[in-house]
Amino acid sequence: MIPLPRETLMSDIANAVGVCERCRLHEGRINAVPGEGDLDSPVVLVGEAPGRREDESGRPFVGSAGKLLDAALEQVGLTRSRVYITNVVKCRPPGNRRPRSDEVASCTLFLDEQLAILAPRVVAPMGNSALRHVFGRFGLGRAVIGEVHGRPHPVAFGWGEGVVFPLYHPAAILYNRDLETELHADLEAMVALLGSVSP
Ligand code: URA
Repeated sequence: MIPLPRETLMSDIANAVGVCERCRLHEGRINAVPGEGDLDSPVVLVGEAPGRREDESGRPFVGSAGKLLDAALEQVGLTRSRVYITNVVKCRPPGNRRPRSDEVASCTLFLDEQLAILAPRVVAPMGNSALRHVFGRFGLGRAVIGEVHGRPHPVAFGWGEGVVFPLYHPAAILYNRDLETELHADLEAMVALLGSVSP
């Protein structure tokens, strides 16, 4: 059997996400937000859930947190077109509340499939919601972002060796400007690591 191209597999997932009714979040969505970016990128950034702008546009990280993320990536010489960006939960929780555990449990099959198709060397959960899922999924146990950010956590992914590299969520900077310096330093460390693990 000839394997299907990544583009096809990823657009099949996007289509499935777009019609998904596995949890209550589909009831309020304008658009599901499957994710976007470079399918060949060695790094996948994982946020929590879409907000209002993302729901309106169907694209991840296009609101105020997205602007901070874009700026932070550019400062370290990365652009969003060179990474893949997605979320743990693909539909906007009402009022931008945290996704509930049953919503995360219903949705993460999509993220898990996306990761298996993209097969990145680095998975970077941004913030505690993404960290909880990614650490759990790859057997890294429980942690909080303040304790584990900015360091590579080696794992055997289903598709090969790699690292989980936790980052502060860009929206955290909106509430605590000191974290901007931390995010910048963490992204620099991640870029240095990418230089050493990229083919
Ligand atoms: N916050 C997230 O976690 N994801 C988005 O897509 C936008 C804001």
